[in-house]
Amino acid sequence: MNIKEQIKNDIYDILKEYIEMEEIIIEKPKDRKMADYALPCFTFAKKMHKSPNDIALMIKENLKGYQTDAINGYLNIFVDKKKLSKMILETIVEQQENYGNNSFGEGKVVAVEYSSPNIAKPFGIGHLRSTVIGNALKNVCLKNGYKVYSINYLGDYGTQFGKLIYAYNHWGDEKALNDKPLDELKRIYVKFHEESSENPELDEEARRIFKQLEDGELEVTALWERFKDYSLKEFQKTYELLGISKFDSYDGESHYKDKMGAVVEELETKNLLEFDDGAQIVRLGDNMNPALIKRSDGGTLYLTRDIAAAIDRKQRFNFDESLYVVGNEQILHFQQLKMVLDKMGYEWGKNIHHISFGMMLQDGKKMSTRQGKTVKLHDVLVEAIDLAKNYIEEKSPNLDNKDEISRKIGVGAVIFNDLKNYRTNDIEFNLEDILKFEGNTGPYIQYTYARINSLLDHKKNININYDNLVVNEYMWNIIFKLYEFSDIIYKTKINFDPSELAKYLIDVAQDFNKLYANEKIVDGEENNSQFKLLICEATSIVIKEGMNTLGIDVLEQM
Ligand code: ARG
Repeated sequence: MNIKEQIKNDIYDILKEYIEMEEIIIEKPKDRKMADYALPCFTFAKKMHKSPNDIALMIKENLKGYQTDAINGYLNIFVDKKKLSKMILETIVEQQENYGNNSFGEGKVVAVEYSSPNIAKPFGIGHLRSTVIGNALKNVCLKNGYKVYSINYLGDYGTQFGKLIYAYNHWGDEKALNDKPLDELKRIYVKFHEESSENPELDEEARRIFKQLEDGELEVTALWERFKDYSLKEFQKTYELLGISKFDSYDGESHYKDKMGAVVEELETKNLLEFDDGAQIVRLGDNMNPALIKRSDGGTLYLTRDIAAAIDRKQRFNFDESLYVVGNEQILHFQQLKMVLDKMGYEWGKNIHHISFGMMLQDGKKMSTRQGKTVKLHDVLVEAIDLAKNYIEEKSPNLDNKDEISRKIGVGAVIFNDLKNYRTNDIEFNLEDILKFEGNTGPYIQYTYARINSLLDHKKNININYDNLVVNEYMWNIIFKLYEFSDIIYKTKINFDPSELAKYLIDVAQDFNKLYANEKIVDGEENNSQFKLLICEATSIVIKEGMNTLGIDVLEQM
């Protein structure tokens, strides 16, 4: 709760016989010398049969803990900034990285699925958003007290693997597969499509091989597993660069190949399945396309696997909420999934949330492919790191471990750019812009953190005498901003939107930099300086914990 809400509650306690909570409007006067907050009492006059000024006086008499004045129908409220500052700053320093934690998630479980790339394909920029949004939401849920299970639902199943195995058996190059597995798999996959357009029998052949895979035929399965291993190793490199920790489960689509039969049976027993042109479907009413459960050739589908996976996740994790961090283009798919679960009678289906997000654009166009080629996330990150390195060479050539610092700046910039906008918006990706040290960027916040850190050398462990202080506007603004941290952590979870937290961190950095620009932090007067250094320390704790929650490292020096 922030101070405004606190005041509102306290006033409501006095007026609740007469008025509703919503009628209490706390204003922030432009001129802070007049008051920190003000309550206009005019609208209460009718209900309370009293003049506005008498009402203000009445509240003044009963409101404890604040300094107040009744003037012209307003109640002017001054908060005790020294007392509050002491309380806020000491709490932060005492709680360290636990500051901002909430307990409302305690005893509850959230399953978060994110990243979920497709194996045997490069890890493209298209999967960046799912990966970083999901990772941030996982951290935010933890900070709110939830137990969290992270799931990487690998795209490791489907007819394309029949094609790939056929292609490998005919044109595969063992050495290339060992050296650059994903490039080689890509090469032979493309070759398959070239060949099959001339010779459609190959498709027939590929389907036959996929059938063997479905039946668990040994040789085919071993090859598929090899492809999967290679892919996972490659993905792991990207996760490491991004700083994404291991998932609790990597059960992808293939994990559900033996579990779909039971789903189809269950749908049948519940009388939900209909034949349509040889295929089996579930009708979902006039406003929604029917859900396709089984193709006419007997093949199962993406949706069928998702139904099996949803049921399995409920059984394994007994979640209170189950999140799927997947792009906007699959909105219909998840609506269908939820509708089918509802028809099956699964109450908990309503606790499934599709956490959708917009596209990544470059110059206004979808970024996932460039000239028909997938843009690899790894390449983009390396580019960002190189650019960060140029900056560092220019700005601070004498730093130790420039490589590590460049990595944290480059990767942090990419992640922050992804998280700072409302997640459902499309976002523009411009490497130069996101790496700027001013403006709403990751490096700006990292830089602010490093600046604070260098000031902290002057900090001593002494008792501050609050009576002798003046808490001015700049100080109060940043202190009060820090006080809102746990509210922000709460809101980020409720809206499932890391941009709440990212925007807040920009505000924190800006409020701090205003203080820094207007006040000498170490100014010769010991008590005053140490108070300002305490603000610095508290600010650094919040920035670090906030950035880490977003999945971004901060730097002690840069
Ligand atoms: N592998 C899929 C893709 O890359 C995303 C998986 C989404 N999750 C799900 N449960 N369907 O498009």
